[in-house]
Amino acid sequence: MLVVQNKQELAEHIAEWRHNDEHVALVPTMGNLHAGHVALVELAREHAERVVVSIFVNPTQFGEDEDYDEYPRTLERDARRLKTVSADLIFAPDVETMYPFGVENATTVSVPRITENFCGASRPGHFDGVTTVVARLFALVQPDVAVFGQKDYQQQLVIRHMAEDMNLPITIITGNTIRDDDGLALSSRNSYLSDEQRAQAPELYRVLESVGNELQDGRRNFAEIEAAATQRLADAGFDVEYFAIRRALNLEVPDRDCDDLVVLAAARMGEARLIDNVVVTV
Ligand code: PAF
Repeated sequence: MLVVQNKQELAEHIAEWRHNDEHVALVPTMGNLHAGHVALVELAREHAERVVVSIFVNPTQFGEDEDYDEYPRTLERDARRLKTVSADLIFAPDVETMYPFGVENATTVSVPRITENFCGASRPGHFDGVTTVVARLFALVQPDVAVFGQKDYQQQLVIRHMAEDMNLPITIITGNTIRDDDGLALSSRNSYLSDEQRAQAPELYRVLESVGNELQDGRRNFAEIEAAATQRLADAGFDVEYFAIRRALNLEVPDRDCDDLVVLAAARMGEARLIDNVVVTV
C-alpha cells in the first residue's frame, strides 16, 4: 500500500491505473480510523479495482471553538490498519497542498438549503468546509465512486446534492453505520468520553431505535415523539442539540403519509458531541 503526500505523485498513480482501465474509489476520512472506516474501505473495494483513502483533518470544517487542534492525528497507526484491508493508496496531504492559496483565500463550494438545519445550524460554516474539501479531493483523485458513512447522514445527503447539482461523474455510495456491541456508533470523538459517559452514551441509539419502532408501528404524531425522546435523552445526561424526524430523501418536514423517514439526533455528553440516526422505511 502506498502512502502519498503530494498531488503530483497521486496523479501519477491514478494515471497509471486509468491507463490499465481500472476504476477508482475514494474513501475520504479525517483519519483516526476505526472499524467503521474499514467497513467503508471494504465497501469501496466492491465497486472499484483501486481504493484511495484520503486522510486529512480539514481546518475549514471546524468552527473556531471546536476541536481542530485536539482532533487525533494517527497516520502511522492508520496506515498499519489500512495495510490489513484492501486499500491501495493513502493520500495524506498537508494543509498547503489542499489549500494552495491559503485557507483564508480558498474558493468555497457551498450547498444551500439542506445545509441550513441540524448540524449546519449548530456548526455554522461546517458544511461549506466539508463540500469545499470534498470537491478538492474529487478533483485530485477523480474517482468513479466515493464512499461516505451513514452516521453523518446529513453530510452524505449534502455531498449527493453537490455531486448531482455540479454534474460530477461520481457515484456516491453510503455505507452502514458500524456500532459497538452496546449500539454506540463508532466515531473518533468517542475517545472524548469518560468511562462513566461511555457507559451512558449507547442510550442515544436506544432512543433512536425505539422511536424508529414507534414509526414502524404507525405512530405519526411527530412533534410529540420528538419531545418525549428529547426528554428521555436529557434524563440520561445528554445535552440535546436536536432530535428530529424528517423525510429521508431531503430532510424536509414529513407529512403523515411519508414512507421514507430518518430520525436524526445530535447530543453532547461532556466533551463529546455525538450524532446518530436511524432510517425507517415503512
Ligand atoms: O466525514 C468526515 O470524516 C469528513 O467530514 C470528510 C468527509 C472526510 C471531509 O473532511
